[in-house]
Amino acid sequence: MKKNSVILIGFMGSGKTTVGRILADLLHVPFFDSDTEIEQRTGSTITEIFEQLGEPAFRTLEYQVLQELLCQTAVLSTGGGIIVSQENREVLTNCQTVVYLKTSPTIFLKRLADDQNRPLVQGKSSIDIQAIFEKRADWYEAVADMVVQTDFLTPIEVARKIQTMLVAKY
Ligand code: S3P
Repeated sequence: MKKNSVILIGFMGSGKTTVGRILADLLHVPFFDSDTEIEQRTGSTITEIFEQLGEPAFRTLEYQVLQELLCQTAVLSTGGGIIVSQENREVLTNCQTVVYLKTSPTIFLKRLADDQNRPLVQGKSSIDIQAIFEKRADWYEAVADMVVQTDFLTPIEVARKIQTMLVAKY
């Protein structure tokens, strides 16, 4: 049975949180961001969770948040690694609308260049970061119901495009 949420997926720096907020406003539904939910529930930042508990513990928290929020009528922006676990991919395949914000490496690498808040990019070269993306690229495509190429669009344009696609779909 398909669920009601609109779930945004995509690599780090693809604009999921910014677009998600705008889209939720356009659709008049609540907005959730999985990283923010995890931070609120644990009282720790994502960096602290990675440092103190490790990535597998973070992935478990991410899974729990996804399970809870996907049944809401809401827009949910997810962390870029949500598609890494097979369990999450199965959950996402059963969601009503999963939208992949597809952004080219040249663009997300620029956005991630001075990032201090994403543990997976700290101390990594552009080649390393792109390699993380390459490993994931097929998974994003595989679980998505819709794909929006974001490279030449502003966040508002991306959100409006998703809204139009949703109207056409339902
Ligand atoms: C991650 C992406 C981050 C955050 C965490 C891990 C990833 O979210 O969940 O740092 O594995 O790609 P954003 O995609 O919002 O940066």
